Order: sequence, then C-alpha cells, then structure tokens
Amino acid sequence: MLPGDKSISHRYAMLAGFAKGTSRLTNFSTGEDPHSSLGCMVAMGAKVTSVGKTIEVTGTAGVLAQPKSGLDCGNSGSTMRMLAGLVAAQDGVYRFTGDESLTVRPMERIRGPLEQMGAHIELTDGHAPMTVRGGLLHGIDFEAPIASAQVKTAVLFAGLQAAGTTSIAEKVRTRDHSEHALRAFGATLERKDERLSITGGQQLHAIDVTVPGDMSSAAFFLCAALLFEDSNLVLDSLGMNPTRATLLDVISAMGGVIKVLDVAEQHGEMVGTIQVNRGRVLRGVDISGALAAQLIDELPVLAAIAPYTTTGMKIRDAKELRVKESDRIALVVKNLRAMGAEVSEHEDGMDIPGGQTLRGGMIDSGFDHRIAMAFSIAALRAEGETTIHGAEAASISFPEFFTWLEELAVR
Ligand code: S3P
Repeated sequence: MLPGDKSISHRYAMLAGFAKGTSRLTNFSTGEDPHSSLGCMVAMGAKVTSVGKTIEVTGTAGVLAQPKSGLDCGNSGSTMRMLAGLVAAQDGVYRFTGDESLTVRPMERIRGPLEQMGAHIELTDGHAPMTVRGGLLHGIDFEAPIASAQVKTAVLFAGLQAAGTTSIAEKVRTRDHSEHALRAFGATLERKDERLSITGGQQLHAIDVTVPGDMSSAAFFLCAALLFEDSNLVLDSLGMNPTRATLLDVISAMGGVIKVLDVAEQHGEMVGTIQVNRGRVLRGVDISGALAAQLIDELPVLAAIAPYTTTGMKIRDAKELRVKESDRIALVVKNLRAMGAEVSEHEDGMDIPGGQTLRGGMIDSGFDHRIAMAFSIAALRAEGETTIHGAEAASISFPEFFTWLEELAVR
C-alpha cells in the first residue's frame, strides 16, 4: 500500500488537532513534512499517539494553546502557510520557523488575505521567520492571484473561524483536499460556479479516516513504468482525486496504458486501483497553462524522463517551480545536463528535446525530495552509474522510496 498522501495528511493532522474529540488517522503519511504539521498541533495542545498504522489525535476543540517556543515547520511550506490561517483567528502570538529552504520561500501570498481579514503578520523580507498575531477576523471576498492550494487553505481555515462569510475565487482550480477534509470534519462549505464560501463559527468533530495513497509519490513509479517495455505496475489504495489525477491523462497521452481496476469514495476523496503498462512508443507532451499548475509536483519527474520520449517536452507557465523546496527549474536543467542531455531553460519552464541517450552522472538534489527521486528514475535508463547527492531528502515525502525502487526493479 502506497504511503498516505502528503497533502491530505497535512490537512487531517491540522483539522483533527483542531476538532473536538479523538480522530483516528490510518495510513497517515510517513513523510517528515506531515509530521511537522502534527508536531505543531501538539505544540498547540493536541495529543497524538500511534497505534500500529493508525495515529490517534485528540483535538483542541477549536482553541489553540500558545506554544512555549516557536512552531518548527521543518522543510514544509504547507505546514507554515496553512497553519498561519488556522492560528490567525486565535487569541495569541505564534512564531513560525523552518529550515534553510523554507526560510527563503515566499510568505507574502498568505499575509495579504489574512491581514485583510484582520490578522497581523510579520515577515522577514517576505519570508520566515514569521509571527502571526491572531485575533477576531472578519470574512472577505478573495480573488486568488496565484494558483495555490496552500493559500486557498489558509483563507478557508481562517474563514472557518471568522465573523461572517469568506469567499474565494480561483482562476485555476487547485487541489481541493481542504474542501473535502473540512466537510469530512463536519463543516459546511458552498460552491457556486467558481466561488467557494465558508461561514465562520463552525465547530469541527473528530472522524475515523484512512489516508489514500499519494499520487505524487506514485508518479515516480508510474514514470519508471513508462521507461521499460513489458513493465506492469499495479497500485492500490491510490488517491485519485480529479484535482490530483491529471498525471494519469498525461501518461495516457504519452502512450502509457492505464486501466482503472476499481474506484470508490472515502470522505469525499476518490480512491482506487490502477494498472499501468507501457505502450508501443513513449511520446512527449507539452505542458502549459492550467495543466502546469495541476501537475506542479509531478513536473520534475516528467522532465527527468522527457529526453527518453520520442518528441520531447516543452514546459511553460511553471514559474512556481522556482519557489518550491528548491528552484526546481534550475536544478532539473543542471541535473539533466550532468547526465549529458540537451535542455534549454526558460524563466517559466524548459524545452527538452526527445530521442536522447543519457549517461550516469553526479546529481545535485539540492536537498529537495522530488529532485532526488525524479533523477533516481532518470538514472534507471541511463548508461552507467548515477550518484545522487542528498538522496536522503526523499524522506521529506516518501521515506520508503528507495526500498520500493529496489523491490520493483527487475534486473
Ligand atoms: C500543496 C500544494 C502545492 C504543492 C505542495 C502541496 C498542498 O503548493 O506544490 O507540494 O498540499 O496544498 P501550492 O499550493 O503552493 O502551489
């Protein structure tokens, strides 16, 4: 069973920690990032115990304690941005810190709407360390200027506690796990056309839930399956939420053959079993516009296998990649070149010609989990050995990655 989805685990950790009662979260992500979210909830009064594959979280019934020291978000932008929304309506001062990578990631994007709602947020040159001075909030109508599920979530979590109604309009529909999670914990949200709204003063209640497998982690093996004839990959308990499953359409467009063997709904999330085989040819695709936002976490691995496709890949409108755990455009380009590939860099993407042969090389992960894993997949088809510096970063989202790779490879 694939480890639990990182995005969903963050939300369940936060909402279980905020709800009234004891929630049971099964198949919670083993990644370090969602554990940063759990740790912060504990620092604010939630109680967490592990019982086998289940994590029991006793929530704070909507009142977060003032943490004794700062809230350490580690490498996790999701933790820092989404929790900012949750604490913004609380009566207290919350200081957020993170590691070197998180300390240079943009936080203005949450400060804008949360201050409009009445919170006070101090940043350091637009970044963490960040101090949120919470208090009584009022609802706003927010037009999201960038496609970001984290920003949407921060506003929803603040809106859950604000006076009146908060509404959010997105130009590009981002992952909707927060909407499903809030409803699962008992909140009411409305959607009219492109506008989502939530009314404040709602109490959340504990639930028992299983976290679906992570599509963005599965992406590495799905892409690996495309590289080898006769590969046959079956993944069960896979999260197939339509806002996360664009990768499956891309894989089909590249010539992969995907069969959905079953699918069901769990607390609003689609969960299923799929089988993937490689088709006769591996074609490239062009990714831009809304597609780039929907595939944002999968772009590094798609780019890493692009040289092996017949027609190559053009990626545009993916400037957000530059402000992830690393500058993922710069690092993908650098590492493809280290493997002997031809690639041209653009401000918002890259062009990678197809029909190339790669050789093993020295890879710089930049301590970015997705870069480390993406180039492990590129290395599978390269001539010679590849060394990945900072490969241990995989544990941010997928500590079992190298064990799985070892087990799935046929030599
Ligand atoms: C996430 C949203 C995306 C994604 C990140 C997780 C989430 O970031 O890249 O890995 O869980 O909401 P943005 O919302 O900032 O684009």
